[in-house]
Amino acid sequence: MSTSLIITLLSFCLISSTISRVTHIEECGISRGCWRLPLGCKTSEDCSTMITWKHERRHLIVEIESKLVKAGQWIGFGFSKDDQMGNDTVFECQFAESGGAGNVVLSHNTAKNNVVLQKASEMLIRDGYADIENGKAMCGGEMILDNIHLDLVERKLMHVISSGQYNLFFAFGNIDSKGEKHMHGMVGKEAPWRSKEQVRFCQRCSSSFANVDTNGIIDFKH
Ligand SMILES: *[C@@H]1O[C@H](CO)[C@@H](O)[C@H](O)[C@H]1NC(C)=O
Repeated sequence: MSTSLIITLLSFCLISSTISRVTHIEECGISRGCWRLPLGCKTSEDCSTMITWKHERRHLIVEIESKLVKAGQWIGFGFSKDDQMGNDTVFECQFAESGGAGNVVLSHNTAKNNVVLQKASEMLIRDGYADIENGKAMCGGEMILDNIHLDLVERKLMHVISSGQYNLFFAFGNIDSKGEKHMHGMVGKEAPWRSKEQVRFCQRCSSSFANVDTNGIIDFKH
């Protein structure tokens, strides 16, 4: 192999590894589920937040980008069996105050507070990333959907999202200097978003590629 070909291949790999961190919106509704906010926006140009997911074998690849969220904040992508959060599962990104590498965890939400599920986060999140790039919060990872290996305590606190259907929630808020999360705001841009209709995350069913946004099924509290 010639040196120039190797260099070309190498730079292609570098470029594609950057691209793979960005939400693949061209696949929305085809091989990927997407929820873009506000209603009717299309790309990172006009969307303030884009959440996408894709099934790959037994896990869900989740990718989130948001212009609303800064260093030192958290994002919660919540799954609820009804239109309120309470005893529900959250895919959570924590952005470091420094703007450097943060954490991706799973947490349990009651109506009033949110607790990280330590074992579930270790066992069921792979390749999590959370950082701020060009003023945008970017995070994601692979969420393993099978939680039978979890201990009973945490298993009781987690939905098996590959079965059933869920309202989606998007919220964000501050993390203080002690690492404590503070609740999201309740009005305006800081209030949580909720999908009006429910989404399925079943494997190989077309509804798991739902374009939650283009169906016009978002309920705004904004
Ligand atoms: C909380 O959610 C879990 C997971 O879906 C479920 O197994 C459990 O029964 C729920 N508990 C209550 C009190 O609703």
